[in-house]
Amino acid sequence: MNISFENKVAIVTGGAMGIGAATATLFCQLGASVAIFDVNKPAGDEIVAQLTKAGYGATFHLCDVSIESQVESAVSKVVRLHGGLNLLVSNAGIQRYGSIVTTSRQVWEDTFDVHVKGCFHATKHAIPHMLSAGGGAIVIIASVQSFVAVANSTAYVAAKHALMGISRSIALDFARDNIRANCICPGSIDTPLLRSVAANTPSQEETLHALGQMHAMGRIGQPEEVAKAIAFLASDWASFITGTSLVVDGGLLVPAGGMGFQKSCAEIPGA
Ligand code: NAI
Repeated sequence: MNISFENKVAIVTGGAMGIGAATATLFCQLGASVAIFDVNKPAGDEIVAQLTKAGYGATFHLCDVSIESQVESAVSKVVRLHGGLNLLVSNAGIQRYGSIVTTSRQVWEDTFDVHVKGCFHATKHAIPHMLSAGGGAIVIIASVQSFVAVANSTAYVAAKHALMGISRSIALDFARDNIRANCICPGSIDTPLLRSVAANTPSQEETLHALGQMHAMGRIGQPEEVAKAIAFLASDWASFITGTSLVVDGGLLVPAGGMGFQKSCAEIPGA
């Protein structure tokens, strides 16, 4: 039996680019009809045009997840257009930098507005429709930074930790209603977000290569590799999995002390 989203309706927030676009595409290929919520209309229109041209049911909804009224009306529209709601991938995100001292109030609020409030809005307005459908699955895109910290990233790290709390709370409150909620925690993934961060360094390609070397597998991930893990957690194959987190990081979190330290250990001759 393969994963099938036949007769399922899915919302993917931040689905116009990167991990969200790869997820929307895979969900369509697995039989779902997919609604993309995003602030980037040109990119959203383009991916929906590609998907509809390929014969899939996909719609784009211009929606800023940080604004509750926009999310509420977009969710209602999806239910009207697609005939229900079964799956939600809460993925929209932005990357901002700063230590606790150098993070401005604006950066703090922008980061929490998109990641945390965005997830709050999407799940809050999706769940009642899942209850009407007899159940559903929610996948929240957190990060390896839900477990560990990257320097100079206080707001992002805090927001990503918060998402795990939202996921666990939903899992607990709605387990008996046949609604599951889980997090996916990616390592470095080759998306417009990561590329724009790397573009602010002296060499984008060298930075991406160096990032890859920090992962045990020696490379960064592709959005399609994250999308497959998202599909698994959203599918019936994960029917007894709720309130947990799946790390999709090519082994980034495995080596104690980072890959440099591991390399020196690996060079010690065995007995
Ligand atoms: P991306 O920048 O390539 O795509 C993010 C999408 O979210 C874009 O289409 C953007 O327009 C949309 N978006 C941003 N703010 C929005 C808002 N207020 N309302 C609706 N849509 C909005 O980013 P990427 O890399 O695909 O990231 C997706 C998720 O994965 C994010 O939550 C990010 O934090 C997370 N993540 C990404 C990693 C990476 O290395 N790329 C690593 C770990 C987590």
